[in-house]
Amino acid sequence: MIYFDHAASSYPKPDSVAHAMHEAVSSYSANPGRGGHKLAERARSVINEARKTIASFFNAPSSKHVWFYQNATMALNQALLGFPFEEGDHVVATKFEHNSIIRPLERLVIEKKITVTYVEPNVDGVISVDAMKKAITNKTRMFAISHASNVTGAIVPLREISLLTKEKQIMLLLDASQTAGTISIDIDRDGIDLLALAGHKSLLGPQGTGVLVTKGDFDLRPLIVGGTGGASESPFQPLQWPERYEAGTMNTPGIAGLLAGIKEVEALGLNHIWQHEQALMRLFISEVQEIENIKMFGPSDLTNRVAVISLSMNNLDSHELAVILDEHYDIAVRAGLHCAPKAHETLETSEKGLVRVSFGPYNTKKEVERLIEALKEISLAF
Ligand SMILES: Cc1ncc(COP(=O)(O)O)c(C=O)c1O
Repeated sequence: MIYFDHAASSYPKPDSVAHAMHEAVSSYSANPGRGGHKLAERARSVINEARKTIASFFNAPSSKHVWFYQNATMALNQALLGFPFEEGDHVVATKFEHNSIIRPLERLVIEKKITVTYVEPNVDGVISVDAMKKAITNKTRMFAISHASNVTGAIVPLREISLLTKEKQIMLLLDASQTAGTISIDIDRDGIDLLALAGHKSLLGPQGTGVLVTKGDFDLRPLIVGGTGGASESPFQPLQWPERYEAGTMNTPGIAGLLAGIKEVEALGLNHIWQHEQALMRLFISEVQEIENIKMFGPSDLTNRVAVISLSMNNLDSHELAVILDEHYDIAVRAGLHCAPKAHETLETSEKGLVRVSFGPYNTKKEVERLIEALKEISLAF
């Protein structure tokens, strides 16, 4: 199987990830921090190491600013539903948001009577700072935006946008699900207040892992309350971080695996990963643009893109094309709307969806050439 669905979840995971998870299950599968015995302490120390590694990877103020969740969706829900919005507050998002931003926001529209503007990309498919600026009102409290679109790969001009948020005293929530592990992110340098990400995509960790990294010391309402292993006499959620935001038994095997995944990313080097995936994307785009009945979407300036390319072939439904690639060529891609319905509205592809191809650090030129050949063959039949 040739795997080109890294934007959904990376595969294969490094062996070190599987080993770390196996070790967590077989050698210290105790409840981290609960009980105080040696095994619980070992589990806790692995989680602490993961927290420290992530804090340093994204330059968080401290490891207590790193909170573990099940996925990026849960981290985004914590950031959005936990934020102290008041009636009439306004949020600026973009047409490229994933449902894990759209749906919590739309819930807040109903429950807290906030308003939301979804900014359109420009003609080249990029979200401009000017468009973001124009969307600001005197009620704007937050920008909630994806660092890169999971449909077109378009990257937002993060530094300029964050300068704008600082100037206007607006919170910046960044969904880095498509960039963490591919692009260097420094929450201080990049002016990010809340950074949500998936552990199971380019950070090469296992599914069941997501992270919210915070910069400030503002108080979010915990999404979930319950046991934290300490202050058990109190009926209320403790105030101290990260416990306040991590009720219930932690996903120790997943977090151990995520730690191993991040170590692998560090060993490969972000720059190497970026260059490798860019080279595959450039090869793919340059060949596929010559195929007459294929249309590709996304910015023409390839420096503004992560290695995510969506395409359509004539009138073929995206699911049909993906099934042909899967069944006849053993190539995995993702069809449909990619949980980003507004992006497809903008691209006018809601009806048939698109086939998304996304590359990862272990994909090879040969694999990409195989996909190009497959698309050429299929295009002759439709
Ligand atoms: C941009 C973006 N945000 C959020 C998510 C949600 O990630 P998770 O499945 O880890 O909740 C995804 C996953 O596809 C994504 O691409």
